[in-house]
Amino acid sequence: MRVLVTGGAGFIGTNFVRQTVRERPDAQVTVLDLLTYAGDARNLEGLDRVRLVRGDVADAAVVDGLVADADLVVHFAAESHNDNSLTDPSPFVRTNVVGTFTLLEAVRRHGVRYHHVSTDEVYGDLELDDPARFAESTPYNPSSPYSSTKAGSDLLVRAWVRSFGVAATISNCSNNYGPYQHVEKFIPRQVTNLVDGVRPKVYGAGANVRDWIHVEDHNAAVWAIIERGQIGETYLIGADGEKSNLEVVRALLGIFGRDGDDFDHVTDRAGHDLRYAIDSTRLRTELGWAPRFTSFDDGLAATVDWYRANEDWWRPAKAATEERYRAAGHA
Ligand code: NAD
Ligand code: TYD
Repeated sequence: MRVLVTGGAGFIGTNFVRQTVRERPDAQVTVLDLLTYAGDARNLEGLDRVRLVRGDVADAAVVDGLVADADLVVHFAAESHNDNSLTDPSPFVRTNVVGTFTLLEAVRRHGVRYHHVSTDEVYGDLELDDPARFAESTPYNPSSPYSSTKAGSDLLVRAWVRSFGVAATISNCSNNYGPYQHVEKFIPRQVTNLVDGVRPKVYGAGANVRDWIHVEDHNAAVWAIIERGQIGETYLIGADGEKSNLEVVRALLGIFGRDGDDFDHVTDRAGHDLRYAIDSTRLRTELGWAPRFTSFDDGLAATVDWYRANEDWWRPAKAATEERYRAAGHA
């Protein structure tokens, strides 16, 4: 099977490619990645049956040739960080909306199966005490330039299924953690701060809740949807991992043997979503998926070990990332 993975040099895409090569001897993987600040060619070095093409998902000529040679397209490439989307939304519109449009036109032309990787942030946010969680039927209500461009891309996919019969599925997943995540994101930022002896930085009061899932569980769910999902359908991916930001920071401080109050509150994010929570009943009952990382504490400890062992990987991006946070008032 010839698999085209967009964004395969980023966090989730890298883990997807590595898992695919490990578990699927029949897969030949081509990665299309622009290698922005978030992509890293080193992540794919030495992998068998993987070819990396540096290019833009919004470049129709490059995309057409690669899609024509694929049996399956898995679309991870995106501008993915909310804080960046508040500083400059323009690459979010181009990559997330125009890039998805470009891929959809190519899979339509060539009749190729397409899986679209999206986020639960398209649903907006929940109150802390809201008894309902996000489900496939929840109306879209995105808050940020990031989540609104992801929502736009999902709606394009739905329209291409209905109008043109494109063979597509969509997944909307909760917050991922694990190896190869950029140091701009919440957990790696705090882990690498702690390695450097710097206090973690919590936005606002720290009461915001995210529903954490290990990246390996996300990617196993993506494969379940590709193999057993119904064309045209959306599946929510989540592992019942709700934690407040304060709980996560305190767990990290515990791993580093530091006092639970040894962190700083910093300026909150504009429009900061309060809570995300996923009801993944459909994925579990219809497709038989279940998470393997059922202990967040164990998954977090393994992730900290990975960052401790791979300082060469994250160190080059750390200072510039912290500089961006200082400029935005989050340091
Ligand atoms: P990431 O920022 O780590 O990686 C994105 C990758 O896309 C990078 O390798 C980057 O170089 C590449 N890219 C960016 N613009 C491109 C372009 N125009 N053409 C080709 N490649 C381009 O992101 P991630 O966290 O791995 O997220 C991957 C996907 O999963 C995204 O679609 C995101 O919306 C979705 N998602 C992420 C999470 C999460 O917690 N990180 C949760 C749910 C869904
Ligand atoms: P993030 O990793 O940016 O993911 P998302 O915005 O997609 O959920 O942030 C996760 C949570 O952590 C979010 O509530 C914002 C918060 N946060 C901090 O408290 N401090 C930080 O330094 C960062 C980067 C995020």
